Amino acid sequence: GKGNYRHFMEKELHEHPIAIGDTLQQYIDAGTRVVGRPPLPFDPATLPRLTLSACGSAFLVAQVARYWMEALARLPTDCDVASELRYRDPPLTPGGAAMLISQSGETADNLAALAMLRAGGQSTVSLVNVPESSMARQSDAALLTVAGPEISVASTKAFTAQLSVMACLAINFARARGTIDEAEEARLTAALLEVPEHAARLMERGGEIESVAAEVAGARDVLYLARGSLFPIAMEGALKLKELSYIHAEGYAAGEMKHGPIALIDPSVPVIALCPSGPLFEKTASNLQEAAARGGRIIAFTDAAGAPALRRFAERVVELPTVDPFVAPILHAIPVQMLAYHVAVLKGTDVDQPRNLAKAVTVE
Ligand code: F6R
Repeated sequence: GKGNYRHFMEKELHEHPIAIGDTLQQYIDAGTRVVGRPPLPFDPATLPRLTLSACGSAFLVAQVARYWMEALARLPTDCDVASELRYRDPPLTPGGAAMLISQSGETADNLAALAMLRAGGQSTVSLVNVPESSMARQSDAALLTVAGPEISVASTKAFTAQLSVMACLAINFARARGTIDEAEEARLTAALLEVPEHAARLMERGGEIESVAAEVAGARDVLYLARGSLFPIAMEGALKLKELSYIHAEGYAAGEMKHGPIALIDPSVPVIALCPSGPLFEKTASNLQEAAARGGRIIAFTDAAGAPALRRFAERVVELPTVDPFVAPILHAIPVQMLAYHVAVLKGTDVDQPRNLAKAVTVE
């Protein structure tokens, strides 16, 4: 049941810390604090290419994973939505591997992509939240998120659990491929292990997110901006807002703003920015300043080091815990999902069962 929560989604949002923690526990040795290698049908040290396939929010996890696999493990990585991949007939790399990411493990397009990838000679691994699902059974190996059942149609804790697994794999593959040293590996792993604690702190910020939601609930359109591995989280924020509150929203790479979307900017379009300190901070902040100069109302999610610069032009600054940029996508996913939830509650929509949507899309 929902316990004391108003909606399953609210309950499941509160399960982020435990879902992330339980999942990390499966992949990181508690004693040595070293990321282990789950059984895989390929050797990551020599893997020539990884293809990631998913739908919806899981596709956004795949996009974050691509940043990690490329930058940390120097592993050429493709990712695509399953409904496109299955019909695209891409030239698959001999000896390559594919990962299918899915909460339910039953999504029809992703099952079809799996069959296509297998037929094309790829080793296949599914990452699912349901161990006995079709995807788990039909792939060469199945990895699990330990998020527990997800009832709300909108994915929440399974999303951060998927990110947690992909982060572990990126670290492990980087080690296997010799692209990070031991100190860097220890630093990244420590950063990951701290995420459940930071996530737990975020659960206490509901009131603050609710007050941001009040500023967004009346909008017709909302823009979400970020760069790098946070760009897919901007798209996750937009996707969740669309599906839960029926407000039109788009996630954009901040650097793409001046190639079109900046034309939308006026005071009626809230601009939600994911902009923590880190290597891309200055560039993102300058894109946001351009939006502010055109009347955009900037609502920025950042950290202690990023806040002062953003306060000069942003209408709202939400300060999140300071974390290594590697894990920032996991942490930022939580407040953008909370925001969509609170906007939906304010608008009175059916939070757990948005119109026209199904929890598992088992038809094409
Ligand atoms: C968004 C959402 C959907 C699912 C998508 C894939 O909140 O829940 O976009 O992520 O339908 O479902 P799975 O992960 O079961 O393949």
